Amino acid sequence: MSDDATERSVSDHYGAWTLIETIEKALRGAGIEPAHATVEQLAALDHFHSFGLAGTLELARRVAPTPGQRVLDVGGGIGGPARLLASRYGCAVTVLDLTPAFCQAGETLTGWTHLSDRVSFVCGSALDMPFSDSDFDVVWTQHAAMNISDKSRLYREAHRVLKPGGRFALFDVMAGPNQPIHFPVPWANDPAYSFLLPPDEVRALVSAAGFTALSWATGPELAAGLQSAPAAPPSPADSGISPGPGVALLMGADADVKIANTMRNTKEGRMTIGMGVFARV
Ligand SMILES: C[S@@+](CC[C@H](N)C(=O)[O-])C[C@H]1O[C@@H](n2cnc3c(N)ncnc32)[C@H](O)[C@@H]1O
Repeated sequence: MSDDATERSVSDHYGAWTLIETIEKALRGAGIEPAHATVEQLAALDHFHSFGLAGTLELARRVAPTPGQRVLDVGGGIGGPARLLASRYGCAVTVLDLTPAFCQAGETLTGWTHLSDRVSFVCGSALDMPFSDSDFDVVWTQHAAMNISDKSRLYREAHRVLKPGGRFALFDVMAGPNQPIHFPVPWANDPAYSFLLPPDEVRALVSAAGFTALSWATGPELAAGLQSAPAAPPSPADSGISPGPGVALLMGADADVKIANTMRNTKEGRMTIGMGVFARV
């Protein structure tokens, strides 16, 4: 499949239903007036990756962004991580995402949380980033590379748009020692647009793109740290969101099967996670 055909499949996969209406209804059902929602109240549903908010907070701790820095979130989805980096760290964040429905929902959620002056959305491809060279202080990506076959190009693009000395932060699903994985999973219904690589291969490709590793963690050790992180995803009571709505809202009607397969793939050593921060040489 060509990169263009893959990108159409990915965008269809994530953008197949009326997302913002679904989120709005779920928030109202949980007693939250959408236009007054806070970043914290949305956190159970808008960090679309393993360990949710805890994953974002751990990556942010490792990168340590500072106020005013320009951050690019590649494959940033509906923008939960971007809003967190803007509201807690004072960064100016650009979300680049392939899926128009996610970009539109992200803009609405950003308006509701009064962060439109610091978070913006660009609908486009991570393989052809519509930005100039040396544009950003931090390039950040969580759980998007599993939909991208040409990871060398992804990492070279990240390098190109980063300023010299800038940081590249990634948190991704990777291949475990036992293949193949069971489908459907949250990022793909079938293998046609799922491209997991083992952690060592990911790290080698990032290095080959011109980065030096500052931190790197994978597998059960990383998972255990995230599981026990003090800033774990808020409980439904903390977030004001009832137990029903959450990130499963973004996965469609078969969310339960996708979540169950994710757990099974992890348990059977078919998938793992990796997190790293790299300096642009
Ligand atoms: C599982 S979601 C993760 C969203 C977000 N990073 C987060 O952690 O909340 C994967 C996202 O990657 C985006 N994506 C996948 N392939 C992409 C590509 N080639 N270029 C840009 N975005 C891409 C999808 O549209 C989707 O929004």
